Amino acid sequence: MSEKTCAVPPAFSAHHVVSGEAYQALYQQALADPDGFWVSQARRLLTWYQPPTKGFSGSLRDGNIRWFEDGTLNASFNCLDRHVAAGHGDEVAIIWEPNDPKDAPRRLTYLQLLDRVERAANVLKALGVGKGDRVCIYLQMIPELAIAMLACARIGAIHSVVFGAFSASALRDRINDCGAKVLITQDAGWRGNKSVTMKQSADAACAETPSIEHVLVVKHTGADVPMQPERDLSWEGLLAAASATCPPEPMDAEQPLFILYTSGSTGKPKGVVHTTGGYLTYAAYTHELVFDYRPGEVFWCTADCGWITGHSYVVYGPLANRATVLMYEGVPSYPDFGRFWQIVAKHRVNIFYTAPTALRALRAKGDAFVIGHDRSTLRILGTVGEPIKAPEWEWYRAVVGEGRCPIVDTWWQTETGGILISPLPGATPTKPGSATFPLPGVRAVVLDEAGNELGDPKATGLLAIAASWPGMLRDIWGDRARFLQTYLQPFPGYYLTGDGCRRDPDGYYWITGRVDDIMIVSGHNIGTAEVEGAIGAHPAVAEAAVVGIADDITGQAICAFVILKAGHEGSPGLADEINQLVRKIIGPHANLKQIRFTPALPKTRSGKIMRRLLRDVAEGRELGDVTTLEDPAAVAALIEAVRV
Ligand code: WT7
Repeated sequence: MSEKTCAVPPAFSAHHVVSGEAYQALYQQALADPDGFWVSQARRLLTWYQPPTKGFSGSLRDGNIRWFEDGTLNASFNCLDRHVAAGHGDEVAIIWEPNDPKDAPRRLTYLQLLDRVERAANVLKALGVGKGDRVCIYLQMIPELAIAMLACARIGAIHSVVFGAFSASALRDRINDCGAKVLITQDAGWRGNKSVTMKQSADAACAETPSIEHVLVVKHTGADVPMQPERDLSWEGLLAAASATCPPEPMDAEQPLFILYTSGSTGKPKGVVHTTGGYLTYAAYTHELVFDYRPGEVFWCTADCGWITGHSYVVYGPLANRATVLMYEGVPSYPDFGRFWQIVAKHRVNIFYTAPTALRALRAKGDAFVIGHDRSTLRILGTVGEPIKAPEWEWYRAVVGEGRCPIVDTWWQTETGGILISPLPGATPTKPGSATFPLPGVRAVVLDEAGNELGDPKATGLLAIAASWPGMLRDIWGDRARFLQTYLQPFPGYYLTGDGCRRDPDGYYWITGRVDDIMIVSGHNIGTAEVEGAIGAHPAVAEAAVVGIADDITGQAICAFVILKAGHEGSPGLADEINQLVRKIIGPHANLKQIRFTPALPKTRSGKIMRRLLRDVAEGRELGDVTTLEDPAAVAALIEAVRV
């Protein structure tokens, strides 16, 4: 084997949730009797009003996916009430660390969190929000974000969290797609030394969202924001006046818990739908297994709740497992590049979960920012969001983890609800850069282009899942056809992930990246079509094509090829205008690193832009096969134009 293997540290494997042999047994048990396995996990991990007797019903072939369908439960009850009832009300549920280290952290015990959630749930009810209604949450990483999510879950309302850095128009489109009745936002937020004008964006969005009846405004920075009479209401005022008793609404396992938008290969984002019983079971199962979680430990996932990682591993998984969750408002670089490790020391963090892009950025700043802070409490280190390369992996293990902490490289997607492929810290020898093996209960396969399963351990092809799992998405909101077309119809009987994958002779999975038109920039999933649409909104632009190119820090960066309308000249000023427009339409995370003006774009005869070729041009490689091009001269013109 060319790749180095790191054994499970002996001291570590002495106190894990699952050991080497137990892992094999669990894996075999799940394979032999998936229904029995999942029903027992669902009953063990969660408290049900009506415990389920059935596991999976339905079929991957027709997309009718149901899990635990005769069970009823409430997600907020599982994350809060049952812990309080069992005598753990005084344990800390959320430690909130503010953007500015000089400000005091906030701590919410399970009892205090329950109080806030019940009040917030009553506020929503009083505004006419009920079971099945949609509530849009547009907040920064402040405790009210978790409170708002759990308050929705308590009354059976479906939340749709929109990442706080998204623009007004992105927010508007997401509100309109699901027809949300209420928007929850804040006056303004902090990210490093920048303030983010949240209410202002919310106002701009709500100028064009007919379904929004009320906007609840959390006071956070104290910025003076205009309040529209009747529509806008103070979160604090209403919560203080609300009753602190709100019984949780029993939900059928298959009723939706939330919608979360993710980029697709067309310009329109997809509203991924997750349901209550399957999702919560899966979030709790993976949180316990992959992070080897035992109550009492401080668990910190640095992801924003605007992404699925924040849903599953800041809120639902950890709180269902009675964890103490650290929630951080700010960025890794403020006030300096040691901030993450300063927080680890300050709050004695045991398990730390972040993205490779953050590790690349921090590693580049040097070890001095790390070693000044006490990291002796750290036990497990995780990554997610994109492939992690060996240098960052080694640095994470050797420097951050002092060679002591196992690394869990977790592969999953918004659509999968939770981690599908990952080492188990007490059981799996790791290889830097490999997500290793599917979890017990996950039937990962590698398919060739024709959809045949590749049987040998050594294989390269498309990553697919051959059986449903409880955390799987159930639908794309309002677009059943797109759900089927994207994931289930390409290879009947399989869930298609959209990722390429190599399996080595030892059976380890190495994810090679998206095979579709999605870029991963700093761990954010961005569709090429979405960016092309935004560029096209500039009046000088005739046509645009974007590709993801390799970048040392962000993993991929966006490179745009732009054809201008007659009468316009490419210039640095115009490039900057176009970039500003894209950042405004989508959000600053969709920054265009390069803009290249070109007279033509390479297209296939069927009119599809040949992105592979654009990537080759952008990264200065020899061009591959151009025989399928409609107009080979376009390539010559393109190369001429972009030569620098
Ligand atoms: C895509 C999903 C899952 C939460 C964050 C992103 C890539 C994710 C890994 C990993 C290699 C990874 C895949 C996947 N990805 N984790 N450990 N190794 N690639 O969720 O925005 O839905 O993006 O992220 O390409 O398809 P998402």
